[in-house]
Amino acid sequence: MPRRRKRDIIIKGFSKLLKEDKLKIVAELMDNSVETIDLMKSFWHPDHQKQKIFDEFSENTISNFYIPYGVSPNVNINGKLYLVPMVIEESSVVAAASSGAKWWLDHGGFHAEVVGVTKIGQLHFSWHGDTNKLREVWDELTRTFRTATAHITANMEKRGGGITGFELLDLTDKIKDYYQIRVSFDTKDSMGANFINSCLEEFGQALKSFVSIHPVFSDKEKEVTIIMAILSNYTPGCLVKTWVECDISELDSLDDELTGAEFAEKFRTAVEIAEVDTYRATTHNKGIFNGIDAVAIATGNDFRAIEAAGHTYASKDGRYKSLSHVEIKDGRFKFYLELPLALGTVGGLTSLHPLAKQSLELLGKPTAEELMMIAATMGLANNFSAVRSLVTKGIQRGHMKMHLMNILNHFHATEEEKELSVEFFKDKVVSFASVHDFLKEIRLS
Ligand code: MEV
Repeated sequence: MPRRRKRDIIIKGFSKLLKEDKLKIVAELMDNSVETIDLMKSFWHPDHQKQKIFDEFSENTISNFYIPYGVSPNVNINGKLYLVPMVIEESSVVAAASSGAKWWLDHGGFHAEVVGVTKIGQLHFSWHGDTNKLREVWDELTRTFRTATAHITANMEKRGGGITGFELLDLTDKIKDYYQIRVSFDTKDSMGANFINSCLEEFGQALKSFVSIHPVFSDKEKEVTIIMAILSNYTPGCLVKTWVECDISELDSLDDELTGAEFAEKFRTAVEIAEVDTYRATTHNKGIFNGIDAVAIATGNDFRAIEAAGHTYASKDGRYKSLSHVEIKDGRFKFYLELPLALGTVGGLTSLHPLAKQSLELLGKPTAEELMMIAATMGLANNFSAVRSLVTKGIQRGHMKMHLMNILNHFHATEEEKELSVEFFKDKVVSFASVHDFLKEIRLS
């Protein structure tokens, strides 16, 4: 009989236990329970009130998981300078963003514009009846929707936002009896997920009662089944553009071996590869999201939603491809990025998480539109630096330099050993093995 592992147990009522008791249960599943408890507790915030904030963000919390908080200085967007907070664990991301920002600072800076701010919610329902009748009463129905949600939309309308449109989709050719009401929203400075979902659930109830009592519908048509009511994370109408451009001759300074014109061509080819090859496009876009996610996390935004929208947008022409593009024309090099970014600067974690709040203050309390431009710009800055390295000296040199500290920490290097290693590896290839050998050598001497 296979031996029952310690962790093969069903834990009942876990969420109702006190945090200390949850931690004890988890620790008991480990071989080193005492050390587990000590380690987990060592990451608790010493200020009980502050720790409580984090505990209440989620369920079943037993500790905090730290990720470095860095800043990228000198980011010039539309002539305004920002110091951009970035929360990310990957060692080279802030360095790449900063180096891209620094180079463009002297070459015209970044430009950005918000193309649209529309978000979408969907009411999915089943109904068996004559679609024309739904269309006939459509205006009356949407007025009913507005009345039913007036208590939710009043504040948003005061801020200039609210519901901006309704559309009925008859999808019965795809799924039997399936209809959808697609609703557009302007949620101003909030990401708006709760607002949209609350409105949609009210629409669902309103639709059911409207159809059940309206005389246009026959007895057989009075029953609506609400399948689900939920916002869509695909927000192609909430779109931002960011770009850099300069004379090709200015690119001469980017690499010792390539002229500006050669660099521009090689860079364009690298981006074109991401437009025709899905494998490369995925990595290319990942480099863009390195910058965007880091800003999203630092400002308390939902990076999963943003990524989902971005990758769908990258496939909008029927094939997944690069979100950024290059144009070389009349002696000018232009590198640009366009993507949907549904961000918020009020509500949600933005004010609850003390560091998200601090990040927004560091950025000068931006509107959601301004934050869209900032985050997209950091995506472009990261993408520029990554592709620049790839088409010149390669990515590993810079990457492994940043990774050197991680490797040194892995080998528990002392401060003195770290200093010696940084000096030694200045002009050498960093690898796990080479750092191991170097440390062995200096430890023996
Ligand atoms: C690494 O996190 C991101 C890159 O792979 C992006 C790219 O290849 O363009 C360097």
